[in-house]
Amino acid sequence: MKVLGIETSCDETGVAVYDTQSGLRAHALYSQIALHAEYGGVVPELASRDHVRKLLPLVRETLREAGLRTSDLDGVAYTAGPGLVGALLVGAGVARSMAWALDVPAIGVHHMEGHLLAPLLEDDPERGRPEPPFVALLVSGGHTQLVHVEAIGRYRLLGETLDDAAGEAFDKTAKLMGLPYPGGPQLAALAEQGRPGVFRFARPMTDRPGLDFSFSGLKTQVLLAWQGSDRGDAVRADIARGFEDAVVDTLSIKCERALDAAGCDTLVVAGGVGANKRLRAKLDEMTRKRGGRVSFPRPQFCTDNGAMIAYAGALRLAAGQHGDLAVRVTPRWDMATLEAVVHGS
Ligand code: KG4
Ligand code: ZN
Repeated sequence: MKVLGIETSCDETGVAVYDTQSGLRAHALYSQIALHAEYGGVVPELASRDHVRKLLPLVRETLREAGLRTSDLDGVAYTAGPGLVGALLVGAGVARSMAWALDVPAIGVHHMEGHLLAPLLEDDPERGRPEPPFVALLVSGGHTQLVHVEAIGRYRLLGETLDDAAGEAFDKTAKLMGLPYPGGPQLAALAEQGRPGVFRFARPMTDRPGLDFSFSGLKTQVLLAWQGSDRGDAVRADIARGFEDAVVDTLSIKCERALDAAGCDTLVVAGGVGANKRLRAKLDEMTRKRGGRVSFPRPQFCTDNGAMIAYAGALRLAAGQHGDLAVRVTPRWDMATLEAVVHGS
């Protein structure tokens, strides 16, 4: 089954074709980062308009790269939420229209399920493909969640952030030290040059039981350290390192607790912050020590992309699930309400 996947929930237009026989056939991404940079954040109306401009050319490019025509497609998957309502509607409208014209089924995919399944998208030659049950750490700009994946489609929330998401904390901390939007990856690059231990920030909520997170206090600690410094490049790098170590340690401590709570030895990590090198190394070390393992998507599939949507949609379509003809999106959507994916149903 060849499934076209469309992602337009925020500021990236992503398109891909996933083939249930041969895997990922092609993918293309257009990032709107430059468009939003001068505003210091995503402007929803501009995001919708840019998706309108870029989506169809990207669909054509992806099909060309895959060597397929529209008539070869067996289904269409699109992100139906959570996300910006106008941006989501662009993808949903195009996906539903194409499916209707081609007379194939279409399915609305939960964006976070897409992220969560991204580590299963490709075979990892070293570690193989993880299979449920496992614990997933979802760390993006909008979410920080620990989820017990009992089966594909059966998700139990173990813990989540009570305020800022991990990626949001990276972005806000970068901004207050004068780094341009979106600062997360730049802060991480700067931390590479910083010295460990020069600045030590709290590991929030690790001194009490529980699996929830809180990252908003960290940026206040960074602000105080930054304001009290000479605000030079060396200090900025040392603070970046101190901040990154605090976030990475906190995430690792909670992941270990979540594995214990769920009785699992496999962890999968997804979402933009999953591209962070130090986080990847730390979680690798933590899971190895306990005889388990961790899987990540390749960094380009950690951040938003069409491949994860094509894959998640293909699993559901192949199990016989699909939506009705309405162009419907769900800007706020609880992952625990999803239907389990049971083949042969
Ligand atoms: O998953 P994603 O592309 O979009 C959302 O659905 O939010 O995640 C984007 C987030 C941003 O906050 C960005 O700063 C963060 O992921 N990010 C990183 C890194 N690369 C992206 N944070 C830390 N280190 C990185 N290398
Ligand atoms: Zn995302």
